[in-house]
Amino acid sequence: MTSSRTQIAIIGAGPAGLMLGHLLHLCGIDSVIIEIRSRDYVIERVRAGVLEQGTVDLMSSAGVGDRLSREGMRHGGIYIAFAGRRHHIDMAGLTGGRAITIYGQNEVVKDLIEARTRTARPLFFEVDRVTPAGLEDRTPSVTFEQSGEHHELICDFIAGCDGFHGVCRTVVPSSRLRIYEREYPFGWLGILAHASPSSDELVYSNHPRGFALFSMRSPQVTRLYLQCAPDEDLAAWPDDRIWSELRTRFETQDGWRPNEGEIFQKAVTGMRSFVAEPMRFGRLFLAGDAAHIVPPTGAKGLNLAMADVCRLAAALGEFYSTGRHGLLDAYSDAGLRRGWRAQRFSWWMTTMLHRAPDESEFDHKRQLAELEYLVSSRAAMTSLAENYVGTPFDD
Ligand code: FAD
Ligand code: PHB
Repeated sequence: MTSSRTQIAIIGAGPAGLMLGHLLHLCGIDSVIIEIRSRDYVIERVRAGVLEQGTVDLMSSAGVGDRLSREGMRHGGIYIAFAGRRHHIDMAGLTGGRAITIYGQNEVVKDLIEARTRTARPLFFEVDRVTPAGLEDRTPSVTFEQSGEHHELICDFIAGCDGFHGVCRTVVPSSRLRIYEREYPFGWLGILAHASPSSDELVYSNHPRGFALFSMRSPQVTRLYLQCAPDEDLAAWPDDRIWSELRTRFETQDGWRPNEGEIFQKAVTGMRSFVAEPMRFGRLFLAGDAAHIVPPTGAKGLNLAMADVCRLAAALGEFYSTGRHGLLDAYSDAGLRRGWRAQRFSWWMTTMLHRAPDESEFDHKRQLAELEYLVSSRAAMTSLAENYVGTPFDD
């Protein structure tokens, strides 16, 4: 067994773990990042695409925003489609100029891995048997294996950035963690296609056959989603069926439709809302999907993860520079406040736009009334806009 020491052991090299490692590096704090998957797997995993202004600002102030500022696509609005019409919501106009930026999560991860590599600080891929221990001691540790060798990492704090299926949350005694959870009776079938985006902003559509979402990744690549069963069999969805279903669910009186092209990625994701309280146990701090999951309809997951690690890095920075632990002590409550705000918004967007398999006529009429109100009331549109573009990270 080889033994080494660091200040912060970061478990997970998703957006949360990588950004935390980078922010700590900028404060001169040492960390080791360990990740069970391979570097290629982590870079190629297709997920989020919508960055809030706060995430864009964080990337740029941390010196990892160059490619994002060149290649990111700034969007000042979105469309909401239902009952055969598309309605524009001018988010920038309603929020004093705030906007979202389309930039794939895998590009964020690629930029952060490059930045980490430039710092020459440790980042280990394909580790196994990761076990955090001594969480209530002064010197917790993480043991793991890599290429058959056993390692022990002794540290001051552990950052649990290992996503929803990670190990960190599971080592907290169940009597010390409260879980709040809701599973939705549907999922998303997502595709990437070589097709130029036919709208310059996203389109969220509520159709009698189910929800559909039009998004993009670049001037050459369109990203599309269809509501499906949570365990939908991809084999039942040849490309022709996907395009035909998308044409149906996006059909509106203005004749708009997505451009079609070769589909080069397809996947089904289930949907849940999940919160673990508190986000801290002793010297373990949970961040990102390890602590909370939101359904993707509000495009909040990655942004919440970034807000968590931004606060955690500031708290650790305060601790190492002054010895004070006020921000560390406030970390969980502040994260839960922001997290629950995102939960409410993501739940609201999800239930307003999807068709529940057991919905009644009453539910359907109420949903239409909600959509009608949304697109006709400046107050309702402003509420959507300010949540969608996101509040500043220090709020
Ligand atoms: P993850 O990205 O899950 O990273 C955790 C890392 O930890 C992984 O690399 C994992 O391999 C690793 N790991 C797991 N277990 C261990 C272990 N035991 N030891 C070491 N490493 C471990 N969010 C948005 O903000 N906007 C969007 O538009 C959006 N769209 C989405 C669309 C889809 C289809 C999906 C599925 C998600 C979407 N999200 C969106 C959510 C977003 O992708 C997640 O919230 C985000 O990935 C969270 O980052 P994270 O670093 O906390 O977790
Ligand atoms: C995406 O582009 O992947 C995307 C966009 C908006 C969402 C979720 C995902 O709400």
